[in-house]
Amino acid sequence: MSLSQYLIEEQLKLPQATGDFTALMSHLVYAAKIVSREVRKAGLLDNILGSTDQTNVQGETVMKLDEYADRIFTHTLTRCGHLCVMGSEEQEEIVPVPTGYKIGKYTIAIDPLDGSSNIDANVSIGTIFSVHLRSSPQGTPGTKEDLLQKGAKQRAAGYIVYGSSTMLVLSVGVGKGVSGFTLDPSCGEFILSHPEMKMPESGGIYSINEGNYNYWSDEVKNYIRDIKSIEGGRKPQSARYIGSLVADFHRNLLKGGIFLYPNDTKSSKYPKGKLRLLYEVAPMALIAEQAGGMAVTVDGQRILDLQPSELHERTTFIVGSKKEVEHFLTFVRK
Ligand code: AHG
Ligand code: MN
Ligand code: MN
Repeated sequence: MSLSQYLIEEQLKLPQATGDFTALMSHLVYAAKIVSREVRKAGLLDNILGSTDQTNVQGETVMKLDEYADRIFTHTLTRCGHLCVMGSEEQEEIVPVPTGYKIGKYTIAIDPLDGSSNIDANVSIGTIFSVHLRSSPQGTPGTKEDLLQKGAKQRAAGYIVYGSSTMLVLSVGVGKGVSGFTLDPSCGEFILSHPEMKMPESGGIYSINEGNYNYWSDEVKNYIRDIKSIEGGRKPQSARYIGSLVADFHRNLLKGGIFLYPNDTKSSKYPKGKLRLLYEVAPMALIAEQAGGMAVTVDGQRILDLQPSELHERTTFIVGSKKEVEHFLTFVRK
């Protein structure tokens, strides 16, 4: 089954559906295919690998592919007639629908290119997106408040991983589960390759940037020491860390495990954690929960219940197999 057929079947299950969401998704998928094509030939072209001389709102170096992906998604989505406003990691302010284009009823928050530090090394990168229904009245320009909604209200969330193949993993909302589609380069279609994805209940992989060990709280340090312990014949968990959230999350979704990005307690770099709530953490949390996993902050709050207050707000992020996250929580709630 192709992604287009899947979306139409989902639409037909809802008698009140207008087809707007299906159309929005088809525009997003078109942009993702263009980005995938560019990623595939990045090493062959001048002007696509490497960094620009810009830094983004987060103070991070903008790579040429970051800029390219941002341009493709922004151009496609803001002109498609189904969005009222967009938020992107690479743009400080909300992105309006350009004058002369139809204003729709959805919002998208997007990380156009996730894992940019891996681009030049030919390591997997991705795109993450989160869709909400606007909260303001229809027909008017969308506002920042339309984007600042809880993760639990997401109408859809997904990511594309540009890996050994290009895959799109999608949840069309609470109660709808998670489906994975692989891009067939011969026909240019995403094909349903992973129906009803479920994260294993427990797993033997932990993913964290362990170079930050000395910045962590005692709770996080104790947890990491525990899962590596060999006391009483215990088997230590395996460390796997790519440094692209999409790729680290995707591996753990398939194989089972836990991903952690806690806050720095001893430096001022990431006092609230590094990852961004609206376009990295909340969409991954919806997918995790819809696949049977869990997603919490370092204090044990459910990610999907967090009320965002800023477009580029950061949070701590602990996500993965249910039993592994529950085990982490025993260290926090002691
Ligand atoms: P982005 O490339 O969109 O800025 O995201 C990078 C993020 C995320 O993909 C990854 O999990 C994390 O940064 C890695 O951070 P460290 O290099 O600090 O481990
Ligand atoms: Mn990112
Ligand atoms: Mn990014």
